[in-house]
Amino acid sequence: MERIGAVQACVDKIVAARTKEIDIKFGYVHLYSVSQTCALLAMKRQQNVELAAIAGLLHDIYAYQTGNRKDHAHQGAAAARKILQELNLFSEEEIDMISHAIYRHSDKDEVDSPFDEVLKDADALQHFLIMPLVAPAPHEAARVSKLKEELGIQ
Ligand SMILES: [Fe+2]
Ligand SMILES: [Fe+2]
Repeated sequence: MERIGAVQACVDKIVAARTKEIDIKFGYVHLYSVSQTCALLAMKRQQNVELAAIAGLLHDIYAYQTGNRKDHAHQGAAAARKILQELNLFSEEEIDMISHAIYRHSDKDEVDSPFDEVLKDADALQHFLIMPLVAPAPHEAARVSKLKEELGIQ
């Protein structure tokens, strides 16, 4: 099975199980948008496009599994590892890469590996683009401004 599709199917089940309609809507919108933005930035920065798209799909999965956002990056790294191991389609090295990016994704004011940075930037960009006329959140403003520059936007 195509691996991104296999992960999408897992994510779909988890999001669909939320009880509030608004959580379901934002769950799909955010996770798929971050996944697509990860793919775009990974292409531009010569990072692994497939693994970046999968990191985007899974990055907030703990929050959708539990309804709890507290420490969701660290908890989510373990949750994503479990999902990927159960799929049995990924090497341990690939799982480590995805899981590490998820573990670090809330640390937006620190710079990690180029692969980790793809996920942080995609997440920050999607938080901004959902309401593009509103100023980005202060902790993501510097990233969004750098991203606009990278994308050739004034
Ligand atoms: Fe997050
Ligand atoms: Fe997110």
